[in-house]
Amino acid sequence: MSNKYEEAHSRSLSDPNGFWGEIAQDIDWVKPWDKVLDDSNPPFYRWFSGAECNTCYNAVDRHVATRGDQAAIIYDSPMTGGTKRTITYKELQDQVSRFAGVLRANGVGKGDRVIVYMPMIAEAPIAMLAIARLGAIHSVVFGGFAAAELATRIDDAQPKAIVAASCGLEPGRTIEYKPLLDQAVELSTHKPEKIIVLQRPEAEADLSGERDVDWLKEMETAEPAECVTVAATDPLYILYTSGTTGVPKGILRDNGGHMVALNYTMKAVYDVEPGDVFWAASDVGWVVGHSYIVYGPLLHGCTTVIYEGKPVGTPDAGAFWRVVSEHNVRVLFTAPTALRAIKRDDSEAELMKQYDMSNLKALYLAGERTDPDTLEWSQKILGTPVVDHWWQTETGWSIAANCLGLHEFPTKPGSPTKAAPGWDVQVLADDGHPVEAGKIGSICCKLPLPPGTLPSLWNADARYQEAYLDEFPGYYKTGDAGYLDEDGYVYVMSRTDDIINVAGHRLSTGAMEEVLSAHPDVAECAVMGVADQLKGQMPLGMLVLKAGVDRDHADIIKEVVKMVRDQIGPVAAFKLATVVDRLPKTRSGKILRGTMQKIADNEEYKAPATIDDMSILDEIATALEGIGYGKARS
Ligand code: COA
Ligand code: AMP
Repeated sequence: MSNKYEEAHSRSLSDPNGFWGEIAQDIDWVKPWDKVLDDSNPPFYRWFSGAECNTCYNAVDRHVATRGDQAAIIYDSPMTGGTKRTITYKELQDQVSRFAGVLRANGVGKGDRVIVYMPMIAEAPIAMLAIARLGAIHSVVFGGFAAAELATRIDDAQPKAIVAASCGLEPGRTIEYKPLLDQAVELSTHKPEKIIVLQRPEAEADLSGERDVDWLKEMETAEPAECVTVAATDPLYILYTSGTTGVPKGILRDNGGHMVALNYTMKAVYDVEPGDVFWAASDVGWVVGHSYIVYGPLLHGCTTVIYEGKPVGTPDAGAFWRVVSEHNVRVLFTAPTALRAIKRDDSEAELMKQYDMSNLKALYLAGERTDPDTLEWSQKILGTPVVDHWWQTETGWSIAANCLGLHEFPTKPGSPTKAAPGWDVQVLADDGHPVEAGKIGSICCKLPLPPGTLPSLWNADARYQEAYLDEFPGYYKTGDAGYLDEDGYVYVMSRTDDIINVAGHRLSTGAMEEVLSAHPDVAECAVMGVADQLKGQMPLGMLVLKAGVDRDHADIIKEVVKMVRDQIGPVAAFKLATVVDRLPKTRSGKILRGTMQKIADNEEYKAPATIDDMSILDEIATALEGIGYGKARS
């Protein structure tokens, strides 16, 4: 018996041109496409080639006639003592077009890159939309990254300008952004021409430098800018994400396919209607923020919530429920770690009782696997569907989800349900053949990927092919391992590379190892992700010191912790390390990180046959027990 999901999924694969061509009618185009799917240059696929459009027009201007007085953005900030601000679509059009005028007056035009380094304030989406309005390309950098990471992105994206706020607010501290920006520009080879700063009263920046521009002052005299027409295949943004080396990958997103896909998912995946309030409690610095704080809800005519706060401590574990009830949120989207934090502080959800939650229809979780405990607890306290859905920065939207707008499948804990329409998900063995149901392998998606997914990496077609396409010709390799069950449910179990997931944040252990190796006393090192009750995983470093180093280990550990914080950023959450005499390796010299991680997590492991001296594993176990891991955990 077929249902709407099955019909959509099957048609999306058998007739992608018809399927996506019809869905694309919901977008306003300046010029229609020549081809829906342009497969003339495999493995590089393009969607809606020949079409012309503007993403900002579709997210803002086109709604003004029909929903001009409806809230487009609700800003809610417990970090600033409870500021709340509503921006209607009409006001958003005014703000965005005027800020686009500011950018234009400062030399930004079509195709130029602009880095955005901003906290969760309404001006972050305003900046992104204004950049899109000009046909320029934004690259948002998460505020928890340090100056050196920002510098790497400046050199790769070569931005004409940087747009920032004077500060970000974390519980207990104010982070001044301008010194970080100045340091990043100092470190980078490429120098942006302008740094446009929104002054926040919590910490005003010194804007006396020759590049510095004051957002608010420029807005006073700004001439509004109209939407600039771009090709559907032109880039909308670059979003850097951790790769398998310290050098982040610049994930590219186009304009046309991205709009079509995100607008479609708002109904098909999240089951929301225009006018509904959609809240993704994430950050604009992550892909979830791009897709479901900014573009998805606005393209669909919803109201989006910009929440500057945490799930706990701002002021308590009832914060999410307050926002849901005060702003009539229909769908909440966050990372499982946020729910674990709430559960830790308020296990019976007592704080929820004071709020009217009746408008909430569903909770969506992503960023990491939803563990069955968190799933059950969330279902119990909310009484709504709780949907674990699986996606990546690269894909821009969910590869697998329980698409409530099409058909609600029974939930299987530990699984993000089935491949979404547009996705042909297969699990492959190392030899490239599909494995049978229930067997673990590399989760791959048959090419072409649907609209809205990465067409390539910024200025790095060869790296794109090498990282994602070469290993399994004809497929996109997700980098996740897992299996499909007999009903076609997907199970995502682990990464096949060095990426770990800390509090829903994607981090590269390789990048951390690069930092640790640079410490003058460290001969070699390994970083692995060990299990953490709150954050899912935490990085843990194993250090081997150079011969003759007889300094206090605690001092060296303090120094490497500081180095990671200074060079990658606080978001790396690197706080755990221990010193060992040697690291276990295979005969070919590969460090056995996986085995060490299992020892640290006190899991069963098979002693690898590829090491000569097994006593090394006992040494590792002893060192880990010394810092509360391994057998010391149970
Ligand atoms: N700017 C500067 N620093 C930041 C930052 C930002 N935007 N975001 C986080 N940090 C800092 C934190 O202050 C913390 O610093 P500390 O080491 O001095 O305490 C550090 O980075 C690690 O942050 P985090 O891993 O987020 O831990 P936390 O203890 O502050 O909070 C949670 C834990 C679970 C409450 C929090 O991670 C959370 O709300 N997660 C939701 C996840 C999410 O939104 N994921 C996005 C994908 S959906
Ligand atoms: P990011 O690019 O930061 O969104 O991280 C993507 C990675 O996070 C994926 O490749 C997975 O490893 C992991 N991930 C995200 N969502 C899920 C999920 N629902 N279940 C399991 N893993 C997930």
